Amino acid sequence: MQIRFAPTRPAGDYALVVPAAGTQRPGLAGLGEGIDAVLRRQRFEGEAGGAAELYLDQDGGRRLIVVGLGADAKPDTAAEKLGGTLAARLLTSGETHAVLDLTGLNFDADAAARVALAASLRSWRHDRYRTKLKDKQKPTLASLTIVGAPAEAEARWTSRYAPLAAGVELTRELVAEPANIIYPESFVARCRASMEGLGIEFEVLGEKDMADLGMGALLGVSQGSVRDAQLLVMRWNGGEPGGTPVCFVGKGVTFDTGGISIKPAAGMESMKWDMGGAGAVAGAMKALAGRKAKANVVGICGLVENMPDGNAQRPGDVVTSMNGQTIEVINTDAEGRLVLCDAITWAQANVKPATIIDLATLTGAMVVALGHEMGGMFANDDTLAGQLDAAGKASGDKLWRMPLGEAYDRLIDSPIADIKNVGPREGGSITAAHFIGRFIDEGVKWAHLDIAGMAWSDKPSSTYDKGATGFGVRLLDQYVADVVEKG
Ligand code: BES
Ligand code: MN
Ligand code: ZN
Repeated sequence: MQIRFAPTRPAGDYALVVPAAGTQRPGLAGLGEGIDAVLRRQRFEGEAGGAAELYLDQDGGRRLIVVGLGADAKPDTAAEKLGGTLAARLLTSGETHAVLDLTGLNFDADAAARVALAASLRSWRHDRYRTKLKDKQKPTLASLTIVGAPAEAEARWTSRYAPLAAGVELTRELVAEPANIIYPESFVARCRASMEGLGIEFEVLGEKDMADLGMGALLGVSQGSVRDAQLLVMRWNGGEPGGTPVCFVGKGVTFDTGGISIKPAAGMESMKWDMGGAGAVAGAMKALAGRKAKANVVGICGLVENMPDGNAQRPGDVVTSMNGQTIEVINTDAEGRLVLCDAITWAQANVKPATIIDLATLTGAMVVALGHEMGGMFANDDTLAGQLDAAGKASGDKLWRMPLGEAYDRLIDSPIADIKNVGPREGGSITAAHFIGRFIDEGVKWAHLDIAGMAWSDKPSSTYDKGATGFGVRLLDQYVADVVEKG
């Protein structure tokens, strides 16, 4: 969707959107006497999330949508609801152009730009394989003009939020695509094509390279797949030349059958999005480069497919990771941590970051604990945890901190190797975090974000429809803006 900013309402055919902060509805001035009565008939009281629709006797009947902000709405929190509501209402309405009039409401530049962000994000769809959509089901809304916003709103949109939307959209695309289309090599190709010209350096390791480095944990997962595993490294050098980078590492299991510890058939198709962590890392890199963030950031995606096969790894196998630790693979379905441990070891050996943040759709237990409202955060550093918590609140990608501790760590000691890849069922997300923690070098600040409940949604919100959410991109972008760039 094309977004424009203008000082006053344009001429021509469009649907008009007017926000209502309770009974304060400056945008309705001059539109006619009877409107208040019509709104009352629809039991519209300007409440947050509410909307009313009517037609004006203008230009052959202009559609007017009044969107409620709530009586005491703070502009920044109301902004995304407003943008999302108008996009959801108008996307397939038949209208091609919407005009939103913010005149008289005290939206600052950032809030006005966030209306645009939400409208843009809420309009994203993945219709590539829906060849029989009826015309009436197809999106019509092509442009949105925002009127009456502060002069700086347009720059805020183009320099910060438009690149962010592009990053979120890349993540959603990678997550939504099925596993016959997005597998390790095609994930890399899709990222390269999407980020071309942005100035991101790509480095890709194949199975041969990883075998030479001794990445036996990651390669053990890939062993049953005909697809070649990949380690994708994306470097954005927007900060001080030679400055220590921050490192994002994503779990990119392009399909998780469970391997020999195979998953039940019901719902297994959802494991096409078991690369949501890697997808978020890729989308964040695109967003950061797109807005030329003044930060050195390295994004790493561990990309494998977890399949059962005559050559697949077995429960009980012992593999040796890149840092020399031996791992007893009790359950081949606990594969994400096996991928992450080698990707993180590679990062520490080659990138030498001070801070590592990993993102992974790691455990069903995380979904049981937090549902679909927040991602789980585990951190070895309180300052980093606080910064991520704040970035979560500011961006809307919310996190809840979970515990780590010695007693949990003991639960993954193995009788035959240094460590086993699963602990007891209880506390499954915590022992999974501890598994990764055993690969973090002394002095490295680390946070692990278990986003299993967040990468995909069965219900729409103000910034996404059902399906891929893009969770994590806004969080990482916010963290970089507030912590890394402010240094
Ligand atoms: N990818 C899954 C976790 C998952 C489950 C993500 C549901 C999203 C929704 C992960 O690889 C997995 O299979 N984890 C197992 C671990 C267990 C075998 C210790 C799980 O959570 O059941
Ligand atoms: Mn699994
Ligand atoms: Zn998995």
